[in-house]
Amino acid sequence: MTAASYIASLKNVSKSFGTLRVLRDLNIDFERGQTTVILGPSGTGKSVLLKHIVGLLRPDAGEVYFDDIRVDDADEEHLVELRRRIGFLFQMGALFDSMSVGENVGFPLVEHTRLNRAERRERIDEALRVVGLAGTEPKMPAELSGGQRKRIALARAVVLHPDLVLYDEPTTGLDPIRADVINELIIRLNDELGNSSIVVTHDMASAKKIADRMVLLYDGRIVCDATPEEFLNSEDPLVQRFVQGRADDGDLQAIRGLDRRETAVQNGGGV
Ligand SMILES: Nc1ncnc2c1ncn2[C@@H]1O[C@H](COP(=O)(O)OP(=O)(O)OP(=O)(O)O)[C@@H](O)[C@H]1O
Ligand SMILES: [Mg+2]
Repeated sequence: MTAASYIASLKNVSKSFGTLRVLRDLNIDFERGQTTVILGPSGTGKSVLLKHIVGLLRPDAGEVYFDDIRVDDADEEHLVELRRRIGFLFQMGALFDSMSVGENVGFPLVEHTRLNRAERRERIDEALRVVGLAGTEPKMPAELSGGQRKRIALARAVVLHPDLVLYDEPTTGLDPIRADVINELIIRLNDELGNSSIVVTHDMASAKKIADRMVLLYDGRIVCDATPEEFLNSEDPLVQRFVQGRADDGDLQAIRGLDRRETAVQNGGGV
Protein backbone atom coordinates (compact mmCIF):
# COMPACT_ATOMS: atom_id res chain seq x y z
CA MET A 1 0.00 0.00 0.00
CA THR A 2 1.31 3.48 -0.75
CA ALA A 3 1.95 5.85 2.11
CA ALA A 4 -0.88 8.27 2.82
CA SER A 5 -0.19 11.96 2.19
CA TYR A 6 -0.66 12.86 5.84
CA ILE A 7 0.68 11.19 8.96
CA ALA A 8 -2.78 11.43 10.54
CA SER A 9 -6.21 12.75 9.58
CA LEU A 10 -9.61 13.19 11.15
CA LYS A 11 -12.49 13.46 8.71
CA ASN A 12 -15.89 14.73 9.87
CA VAL A 13 -15.29 13.32 13.34
CA SER A 14 -17.99 13.77 15.97
CA LYS A 15 -17.82 12.46 19.51
CA SER A 16 -20.24 12.85 22.42
CA PHE A 17 -20.29 11.46 25.92
CA GLY A 18 -23.95 11.14 26.83
CA THR A 19 -25.47 14.51 26.06
CA LEU A 20 -22.09 16.27 26.06
CA ARG A 21 -21.00 16.96 22.48
CA VAL A 22 -17.22 17.16 22.51
CA LEU A 23 -15.98 16.96 18.90
CA ARG A 24 -18.29 18.42 16.29
CA ASP A 25 -17.72 17.39 12.70
CA LEU A 26 -14.00 17.97 13.06
CA ASN A 27 -11.67 17.93 10.05
CA ILE A 28 -7.91 18.10 10.32
CA ASP A 29 -4.88 16.69 8.49
CA PHE A 30 -1.47 16.45 10.18
CA GLU A 31 1.54 16.97 7.92
CA ARG A 32 4.48 14.60 8.01
CA GLY A 33 7.58 15.85 9.79
CA GLN A 34 5.77 18.84 11.29
CA THR A 35 5.08 19.82 14.87
CA THR A 36 1.44 20.83 15.16
CA VAL A 37 0.45 22.56 18.39
CA ILE A 38 -3.18 22.33 19.51
CA LEU A 39 -4.37 25.06 21.82
CA GLY A 40 -7.74 25.50 23.44
CA PRO A 41 -9.51 26.02 26.74
CA SER A 42 -9.90 23.28 29.29
CA GLY A 43 -12.58 20.73 28.47
CA THR A 44 -12.70 21.57 24.79
CA GLY A 45 -11.73 18.10 23.58
CA LYS A 46 -7.96 18.29 23.06
CA SER A 47 -7.16 15.07 24.90
CA VAL A 48 -10.20 13.40 23.35
CA LEU A 49 -8.84 14.33 19.89
CA LEU A 50 -5.43 12.75 20.65
CA LYS A 51 -7.06 9.59 21.98
CA HIS A 52 -8.92 9.13 18.68
CA ILE A 53 -5.61 9.04 16.79
CA VAL A 54 -4.35 6.03 18.75
CA GLY A 55 -7.73 4.33 18.81
CA LEU A 56 -8.23 4.73 22.57
CA LEU A 57 -11.56 6.36 21.72
CA ARG A 58 -13.76 5.69 18.71
CA PRO A 59 -15.79 8.43 17.00
CA ASP A 60 -19.58 8.35 16.86
CA ALA A 61 -19.30 9.49 13.24
CA GLY A 62 -16.46 10.21 10.83
CA GLU A 63 -13.14 8.60 10.00
CA VAL A 64 -9.71 8.63 11.64
CA TYR A 65 -6.52 7.72 9.82
CA PHE A 66 -2.95 7.16 10.92
CA ASP A 67 -0.71 6.87 7.87
CA ASP A 68 -2.55 4.30 5.75
CA ILE A 69 -4.35 2.65 8.67
CA ARG A 70 -8.03 3.36 9.19
CA VAL A 71 -8.06 3.79 12.98
CA ASP A 72 -11.74 4.13 13.81
CA ASP A 73 -12.58 0.58 12.80
CA ALA A 74 -9.11 -0.94 13.27
CA ASP A 75 -8.92 -4.55 14.40
CA GLU A 76 -6.68 -5.70 17.25
CA GLU A 77 -3.72 -6.33 14.94
CA HIS A 78 -3.82 -2.79 13.55
CA LEU A 79 -4.29 -1.30 17.01
CA VAL A 80 -1.09 -3.05 18.12
CA GLU A 81 0.71 -1.65 15.07
CA LEU A 82 -0.63 1.84 15.87
CA ARG A 83 0.62 1.68 19.41
CA ARG A 84 4.02 0.56 18.23
CA ARG A 85 4.32 3.42 15.75
CA ILE A 86 2.80 6.20 17.87
CA GLY A 87 4.44 7.45 21.07
CA PHE A 88 2.01 8.96 23.57
CA LEU A 89 3.08 11.23 26.40
CA PHE A 90 -0.12 11.21 28.46
CA GLN A 91 -1.40 14.29 30.24
CA MET A 92 -0.73 12.73 33.63
CA GLY A 93 2.52 11.20 32.33
CA ALA A 94 2.18 8.34 34.79
CA LEU A 95 5.13 6.04 35.27
CA PHE A 96 4.69 2.62 36.84
CA ASP A 97 5.68 3.37 40.44
CA SER A 98 6.71 -0.19 41.24
CA MET A 99 9.10 -0.40 38.28
CA SER A 100 12.55 1.14 38.00
CA VAL A 101 13.29 3.86 35.45
CA GLY A 102 14.93 1.28 33.17
CA GLU A 103 11.91 -1.04 33.37
CA ASN A 104 9.55 1.85 32.70
CA VAL A 105 11.44 3.00 29.62
CA GLY A 106 11.93 -0.59 28.43
CA PHE A 107 8.27 -1.55 28.85
CA PRO A 108 7.23 -0.80 25.23
CA LEU A 109 10.23 -2.83 24.01
CA VAL A 110 9.06 -5.87 25.98
CA GLU A 111 5.50 -5.39 24.71
CA HIS A 112 6.26 -4.71 21.06
CA THR A 113 9.64 -6.14 20.08
CA ARG A 114 11.62 -9.35 20.28
CA LEU A 115 14.82 -7.58 21.27
CA ASN A 116 16.88 -9.50 23.79
CA ARG A 117 17.92 -8.09 27.13
CA ALA A 118 21.24 -6.63 25.85
CA GLU A 119 19.56 -5.03 22.84
CA ARG A 120 16.85 -3.60 25.08
CA ARG A 121 19.49 -2.19 27.40
CA GLU A 122 21.11 -0.40 24.50
CA ARG A 123 17.81 1.15 23.40
CA ILE A 124 16.96 2.17 26.97
CA ASP A 125 20.40 3.78 27.36
CA GLU A 126 19.94 5.65 24.11
CA ALA A 127 16.46 6.95 25.06
CA LEU A 128 17.70 8.08 28.48
CA ARG A 129 20.70 9.81 26.91
CA VAL A 130 18.41 11.71 24.54
CA VAL A 131 16.42 13.11 27.49
CA GLY A 132 19.59 13.89 29.45
CA LEU A 133 19.07 11.27 32.15
CA ALA A 134 21.69 8.67 31.26
CA GLY A 135 22.53 6.35 34.12
CA THR A 136 19.22 6.65 35.97
CA GLU A 137 18.01 3.12 35.04
CA PRO A 138 18.17 1.69 38.58
CA LYS A 139 16.31 4.58 40.23
CA MET A 140 12.66 4.35 41.22
CA PRO A 141 10.20 7.02 39.99
CA ALA A 142 9.61 8.23 43.57
CA GLU A 143 13.26 9.31 43.75
CA LEU A 144 12.85 11.73 40.83
CA SER A 145 11.56 15.29 40.54
CA GLY A 146 8.42 16.10 38.52
CA GLY A 147 10.50 17.40 35.61
CA GLN A 148 12.67 14.28 35.58
CA ARG A 149 9.60 12.04 35.64
CA LYS A 150 8.25 13.86 32.58
CA ARG A 151 11.56 13.27 30.81
CA ILE A 152 11.47 9.57 31.70
CA ALA A 153 7.90 9.37 30.36
CA LEU A 154 9.20 11.09 27.23
CA ALA A 155 12.03 8.54 26.90
CA ARG A 156 9.40 5.78 27.19
CA ALA A 157 7.24 7.47 24.53
CA VAL A 158 10.08 7.53 22.00
CA VAL A 159 11.95 4.32 22.80
CA LEU A 160 10.31 2.52 19.86
CA HIS A 161 11.33 5.32 17.47
CA PRO A 162 7.72 6.17 16.66
CA ASP A 163 6.66 7.90 13.44
CA LEU A 164 4.33 10.17 15.40
CA VAL A 165 4.61 11.43 18.96
CA LEU A 166 1.55 12.80 20.78
CA TYR A 167 2.32 15.09 23.69
CA ASP A 168 -0.58 15.96 25.99
CA GLU A 169 0.41 19.03 28.02
CA PRO A 170 4.09 18.10 28.31
CA THR A 171 5.09 21.23 30.25
CA THR A 172 2.15 21.57 32.65
CA GLY A 173 3.24 21.72 36.27
CA LEU A 174 6.87 22.51 35.44
CA ASP A 175 8.69 25.74 36.19
CA PRO A 176 9.68 27.79 33.09
CA ILE A 177 13.23 26.44 33.01
CA ARG A 178 12.21 22.79 33.25
CA ALA A 179 9.41 23.47 30.76
CA ASP A 180 11.99 24.83 28.35
CA VAL A 181 14.08 21.66 28.69
CA ILE A 182 11.02 19.72 27.51
CA ASN A 183 10.54 22.16 24.60
CA GLU A 184 14.15 21.64 23.55
CA LEU A 185 13.69 17.88 23.78
CA ILE A 186 10.59 17.95 21.59
CA ILE A 187 12.55 19.91 18.98
CA ARG A 188 15.60 17.66 19.26
CA LEU A 189 13.58 14.45 18.99
CA ASN A 190 11.84 15.80 15.94
CA ASP A 191 15.20 16.58 14.33
CA GLU A 192 16.97 13.38 15.36
CA LEU A 193 14.19 10.86 14.82
CA GLY A 194 12.53 12.74 11.96
CA ASN A 195 9.10 12.06 13.44
CA SER A 196 5.93 14.10 13.34
CA SER A 197 4.54 15.59 16.53
CA ILE A 198 1.21 16.80 17.84
CA VAL A 199 1.50 18.81 21.01
CA VAL A 200 -1.47 19.85 23.15
CA THR A 201 -0.56 22.73 25.40
CA HIS A 202 -1.85 25.75 27.30
CA ASP A 203 1.65 27.18 27.36
CA MET A 204 1.96 29.94 24.72
CA ALA A 205 5.71 30.33 25.25
CA SER A 206 6.15 26.64 24.55
CA ALA A 207 3.81 26.78 21.56
CA LYS A 208 5.74 29.68 20.00
CA LYS A 209 9.00 27.86 20.38
CA ILE A 210 8.09 24.46 18.95
CA ALA A 211 5.20 24.93 16.50
CA ASP A 212 5.35 24.66 12.73
CA ARG A 213 1.60 25.13 12.82
CA MET A 214 -0.91 26.25 15.46
CA VAL A 215 -4.49 25.11 15.76
CA LEU A 216 -7.10 26.54 18.12
CA LEU A 217 -9.80 24.11 19.18
CA TYR A 218 -12.85 25.77 20.68
CA ASP A 219 -16.14 24.17 21.52
CA GLY A 220 -15.23 21.00 19.63
CA ARG A 221 -14.40 22.85 16.42
CA ILE A 222 -11.25 24.23 14.85
CA VAL A 223 -11.51 28.00 14.85
CA CYS A 224 -7.98 28.80 13.64
CA ASP A 225 -5.44 26.68 11.78
CA ALA A 226 -2.40 28.68 10.71
CA THR A 227 1.35 29.16 10.71
CA PRO A 228 2.63 30.50 14.06
CA GLU A 229 3.11 33.93 12.50
CA GLU A 230 -0.43 34.09 11.13
CA PHE A 231 -1.82 32.70 14.37
CA LEU A 232 -0.02 35.20 16.58
CA ASN A 233 -1.09 38.11 14.36
CA SER A 234 -4.65 36.91 13.89
CA GLU A 235 -7.30 39.54 14.56
CA ASP A 236 -9.84 36.93 15.61
CA PRO A 237 -10.76 37.94 19.18
CA LEU A 238 -10.84 34.30 20.33
CA VAL A 239 -7.32 33.71 19.04
CA GLN A 240 -6.08 36.96 20.57
CA ARG A 241 -7.54 36.01 23.94
CA PHE A 242 -5.48 32.87 23.75
CA VAL A 243 -2.31 34.47 22.54
CA GLN A 244 -2.48 37.08 25.28
CA GLY A 245 -3.73 34.70 27.95
CA ARG A 246 -6.72 36.84 28.84
CA ALA A 247 -9.87 35.47 30.47
CA ASP A 248 -13.15 36.58 28.95
CA ASP A 249 -15.87 38.49 30.77
CA GLY A 250 -17.91 35.36 31.41
CA ASP A 251 -14.94 33.64 33.11
CA LEU A 252 -14.21 36.73 35.17
CA GLN A 253 -17.78 37.12 36.32
CA ALA A 254 -17.91 33.47 37.30
CA ILE A 255 -14.84 33.77 39.53
CA ARG A 256 -15.90 37.08 41.00
CA GLY A 257 -19.17 35.42 41.98
CA LEU A 258 -17.16 32.56 43.48
CA ASP A 259 -14.94 35.02 45.42
CA ARG A 260 -17.93 36.64 47.04
CA ARG A 261 -19.40 33.31 48.07
CA GLU A 262 -16.06 32.13 49.48
CA THR A 263 -15.61 35.35 51.44
CA ALA A 264 -19.11 34.98 52.84
CA VAL A 265 -18.36 31.42 53.94
CA GLN A 266 -15.03 32.43 55.50
CA ASN A 267 -16.79 35.19 57.41
CA GLY A 268 -19.25 32.66 58.71
CA GLY A 269 -22.06 34.18 56.71
CA GLY A 270 -24.59 32.25 54.68
CA VAL A 271 -24.38 32.30 50.93
N1 LIG B 1 -14.08 8.90 28.74
C1 LIG B 1 -14.88 9.95 28.97
N2 LIG B 1 -16.12 9.80 29.43
C2 LIG B 1 -16.95 10.85 29.64
N3 LIG B 1 -16.59 12.13 29.41
C3 LIG B 1 -15.36 12.35 28.95
C4 LIG B 1 -14.44 11.29 28.71
N4 LIG B 1 -13.29 11.83 28.25
C5 LIG B 1 -13.49 13.17 28.21
N5 LIG B 1 -14.71 13.49 28.62
C6 LIG B 1 -15.28 14.85 28.67
O1 LIG B 1 -15.08 15.46 27.41
C7 LIG B 1 -14.73 16.83 27.54
C8 LIG B 1 -13.43 17.10 26.84
O2 LIG B 1 -12.40 16.43 27.56
P1 LIG B 1 -10.86 16.57 27.22
O3 LIG B 1 -10.16 15.73 28.22
O4 LIG B 1 -10.62 16.28 25.80
O5 LIG B 1 -10.61 18.12 27.49
P2 LIG B 1 -9.25 18.92 27.25
O6 LIG B 1 -9.50 19.90 26.15
O7 LIG B 1 -8.12 17.96 27.07
O8 LIG B 1 -9.14 19.72 28.63
P3 LIG B 1 -7.83 20.02 29.55
O9 LIG B 1 -7.18 21.21 28.92
O10 LIG B 1 -8.44 20.38 30.88
O11 LIG B 1 -6.99 18.81 29.59
C9 LIG B 1 -14.71 17.11 29.04
O12 LIG B 1 -15.92 17.70 29.42
C10 LIG B 1 -14.55 15.74 29.67
O13 LIG B 1 -15.14 15.68 30.93
MG1 LIG C 1 -6.56 17.37 28.22
